[in-house]
Amino acid sequence: MEKYVINGGTPLYGEVSVSGAKNAALAIIPAAILSQDICVIENLPLSISDVRYMIATLRHIGADVRYIDKSSIEIDSRKVSSYVISHDMTKHLRASYYFIGALLGRFGRARVAMPGGCYLGPRPIDQHIKGFEALGAKVSVEDNAIVEALSEKLFGAPVYLDIVSVGATVNIMLAAVKAEGMTIIENAAKEPHIVDLANFLNSMGADIRGAGTDVIKIRGVENLHGCTYSIIPDQIEAGTFMVAAAATKGNLLIKNVIPKHLESISTKLVECGATVEEYDEAIRVSMDTRPGKCNIKTMPHPGFPTDMQPQIAVLLALADGTSLISESIWSNRFRYTEQLIRMGAKINVDGQIAMIHGVEALKGAPVRADDLRAGAAMIIAGLAAQGRTEIEEISHIRRGYENVVEKISNIGGDIRMVYCVDPLDINDAG
Ligand code: EPU
Repeated sequence: MEKYVINGGTPLYGEVSVSGAKNAALAIIPAAILSQDICVIENLPLSISDVRYMIATLRHIGADVRYIDKSSIEIDSRKVSSYVISHDMTKHLRASYYFIGALLGRFGRARVAMPGGCYLGPRPIDQHIKGFEALGAKVSVEDNAIVEALSEKLFGAPVYLDIVSVGATVNIMLAAVKAEGMTIIENAAKEPHIVDLANFLNSMGADIRGAGTDVIKIRGVENLHGCTYSIIPDQIEAGTFMVAAAATKGNLLIKNVIPKHLESISTKLVECGATVEEYDEAIRVSMDTRPGKCNIKTMPHPGFPTDMQPQIAVLLALADGTSLISESIWSNRFRYTEQLIRMGAKINVDGQIAMIHGVEALKGAPVRADDLRAGAAMIIAGLAAQGRTEIEEISHIRRGYENVVEKISNIGGDIRMVYCVDPLDINDAG
């Protein structure tokens, strides 16, 4: 069993560089099989486990993947032969369901086990299925465990999403890119990784317009070719460091970012009293006073991202006054508040709203990473708190944050990973 041990209370200072975007990578890696050619993908966060699992899944269906350097791979999809992906491969992460759209686009057929991933509330895929069916696929779900989708040929069609869904938008784009005719996705998600996926597909010869707006038009093309593509920086990793700088009353230059993607986060940090300076590809966040309160409602992009909600809650837990957070995307994203309460935070959760009464200081405690972003919040809380924090279940954090111990140590945070024996593990009795 591994844990992070943090001795908190030291402001973060210096420079940190953000890795490539996890959620863009998770869409772009399966998208590569739509070409029967070679793609080189750069600026990938190759050491996070979600990306490793996606690469393992590519190999499982027959792709050749070669590591070029610590952030680039070459994917040769010419020998991809299988359209079947078992539960062993999909159980680790949600995004494994992007192989349904990608395989459907490549073979007109996909048989993929239901995905795993962070539990943030029910995660239905009805909008994905609605999109596949609109394109002409016959979709069946067996025992809620396997999705089978098949079609002799896919035809472009209008698809109106009842809910703004990142996953459904990605999956429909993947299935539609080689369908005959025009697909129009209305009420599409506008997240930066949707635009990145569209740019990647267009670099392979696709014809996609409107990504980043709520209407995406995809004119099907017969074939896609290989390309070299560099993934955008991770908006949420950048935002996590921004909040960490403010919560520890530090001063960080966060490099390899697109400041435009960070506007909703910057605005809230400024409202709390932080100073935010934007440069071309970097952003500086500093804070030298106690944070002020502010209210936050999570919304699809360009609103405040749900994936930053637990992290900013740590700042608000230290604020002068009472703040409200309203979570409008996921129904179960406040579990981490129990852990923050162990550290001295004063938080009441009622359904989708958390009322946070700021305290002067948090104190270190043993806590748990309930999911990826909850884990990021625990790290920030541990860095800002007085004393020692131990974070368990860090595998969640390693799903989405690259070299987190090294990056934080380099900016003055006292964090290390320790291995310890699980007292309940009878196989570890020596
Ligand atoms: N929804 C439906 N039906 C569907 C699809 C979604 O009702 O068919 C609902 C969901 O239950 C949820 C809402 O729509 O209430 C939004 O879900 P969405 O599909 O947008 O989320 P996702 O694609 O499963 C991605 C990110 C999440 C992020 C959400 C929202 C990836 C791999 N995951 O999930 O990221 O929270 O969008 O922005 O891109 C994370 O990185 O920590 C993470 C959880």
